[in-house]
Amino acid sequence: MLKSHNCGQLREEHINQTVTLAGWVNRRRDMGGVIFIDLRDRDGITQVVINAGHSQATFDTAEQIRNEYVLQIKGTVGRRPEGQENAEMTTGDIEVTADEVTILNKAKTPPFAINRDHNVDETVRLKYRYLDLRRQKMQSNLIIRHKAIKFIRDFLDERGFIEIETPILFKSTPEGARDYLVPSRVQPGKFYALPQSPQQLKQLLMVAGYERYFQIARCFRDEDLRADRQPEFTQLDMEISFVERDDILNLIEELMKGMIKTASRLPLAWDEFPRLSYHEAMERFGSDKPDLRFGLELTDLSDIAAESGFKVFTDTVKAGNPVKAICVPGAASYSRKQIDDLEAIAKANGAKGMPWIMLKQEGGVKGFISKFFSDEQMNAIIERMDAKAGDLLLFASDSKWVVYAALGALRTEMGTRLGLKDTGTLGFCWIVDFPLFEENLENGFYAPSHHMFTAPKPDHIPMLDSDPASVLSDQYDLACNGFEVAGGSIRIHERGLQRKIMELIGFSIEEAKEQFGHLLEAFEYGAPPHGGIAPGIDRLVALMAGEPNIREVMAFPKTAQATDLMSESPSFVAQQQWDDLHIQPAKAM
Ligand code: AMO
Repeated sequence: MLKSHNCGQLREEHINQTVTLAGWVNRRRDMGGVIFIDLRDRDGITQVVINAGHSQATFDTAEQIRNEYVLQIKGTVGRRPEGQENAEMTTGDIEVTADEVTILNKAKTPPFAINRDHNVDETVRLKYRYLDLRRQKMQSNLIIRHKAIKFIRDFLDERGFIEIETPILFKSTPEGARDYLVPSRVQPGKFYALPQSPQQLKQLLMVAGYERYFQIARCFRDEDLRADRQPEFTQLDMEISFVERDDILNLIEELMKGMIKTASRLPLAWDEFPRLSYHEAMERFGSDKPDLRFGLELTDLSDIAAESGFKVFTDTVKAGNPVKAICVPGAASYSRKQIDDLEAIAKANGAKGMPWIMLKQEGGVKGFISKFFSDEQMNAIIERMDAKAGDLLLFASDSKWVVYAALGALRTEMGTRLGLKDTGTLGFCWIVDFPLFEENLENGFYAPSHHMFTAPKPDHIPMLDSDPASVLSDQYDLACNGFEVAGGSIRIHERGLQRKIMELIGFSIEEAKEQFGHLLEAFEYGAPPHGGIAPGIDRLVALMAGEPNIREVMAFPKTAQATDLMSESPSFVAQQQWDDLHIQPAKAM
């Protein structure tokens, strides 16, 4: 090795030892006759002293040195002079006096400073990702990721799981996104699909008798990107045979707690993960991935609103839809503009408006709709919402989906604005008992709320004929701080039931055979009851690192346009490559 120690390693006990360090120049200070270099490697920073009086040749070399040069330093560890210790550095008690300095490589001035954490335009960071990744913050994010994955592997290995790799070139396994397709050269006109998840394959491994499978699996989904979505991302993909729902929930809860203890910057907000039904989560928080670190719950006021003189409310309730509200503490002083901003959020989530009532600090109420309520009705609202003078009540009346979306979004926004979320913690909860299908039909067919392999609750199976929309499934999601961090379910393991679900979601027998014939057939060869889950590694690591965006915990992420700015991929290919793949460029190109 070109070094005997790492730059974060040297302490008092190394004093008087001769060492060799290698790394990058984090900072260079020329004090005239003495040059100080902070030498940095992945492990930390060591102060190196280069003294003209000690070695002129070394000093001459050091004079050429600039930030980010790559150096090898041979020297002796000494105690820093009294008063010059730096308690903020792990190596702050010592310094290395250089006997020899070798420039291993020079560096151009980087497009942004590497030795400081400051706001740099993200496109520049992504273009020079190798420099961005050199920053200590990014290195420590990727180390969190490494520690999390190592913990997962050890934890599951100890519990009898085996890691099995599944193909990347495979067949479409729909998870609700568009597939990435790869044309076959040897079979003209045919395509592989990159897996949106290894869902079918892990189920086939259960048929094959592996009982406890996991994989740190790369998944590919061509969908609209946002802060918590990338076109390729990583799941901890798992499947277990002869398992029941609570076995999986308990196992994952233990895994999460251990992983957070081992790898996370942020601690858990609470120890036991609450379990909420999907219905309860939507009714109380307007979201199936609620942030439970704060209240501002949705309150149902349909019964009181039905008796009011406000036609919008009475018509809504008559149509079987709800009137709900949230109570924002201390917001009665909001200006018209501030309220308009909130209304814009409600409207962006489908609401036609956002009626409001202010409880004035000095007593009495304000707001256009207040005149439609009697004193008695107003008191009933205030009591049910536990509202106080100075609070602002925000209403939504529409289909329950619009009410959930609008008030859920307002709740999230106000939770942030009012600083109600303890941003330094991780608040996990389980959401269980999802409906098997989305409520609204698509082209006359049901759409699975998770994926088509999820089993209905056994006592709900008869309802598949009479009332499919009311069937609940054994699907479960894990949410943390308002993000969905894992999804899974107990699966269907019988061909007949799987076929029936496929019919309900609009697959003809031919289509089902074409796409999933291998799975349906496998179910006829002794498929065991099984279930699984897939926590999203990128989202979990971002949360553990306290980062707002999963790009901060991925080495080489893509932009919102699914571009890698560093390599400029995707990129055009030569006509020969189109020809080899038997495909034509689109005319517009
Ligand atoms: P699901 O589609 O819910 O389930 O995905 C599981 C978890 O993967 C993460 N995730 C993503 N992370 C980053 N970018 C994306 N584009 C992205 N999409 C999903 C989320 C999510 O909770 N096969 C099933 C799992 C199962 O049933 O076992 C599946 O993939 O954290």
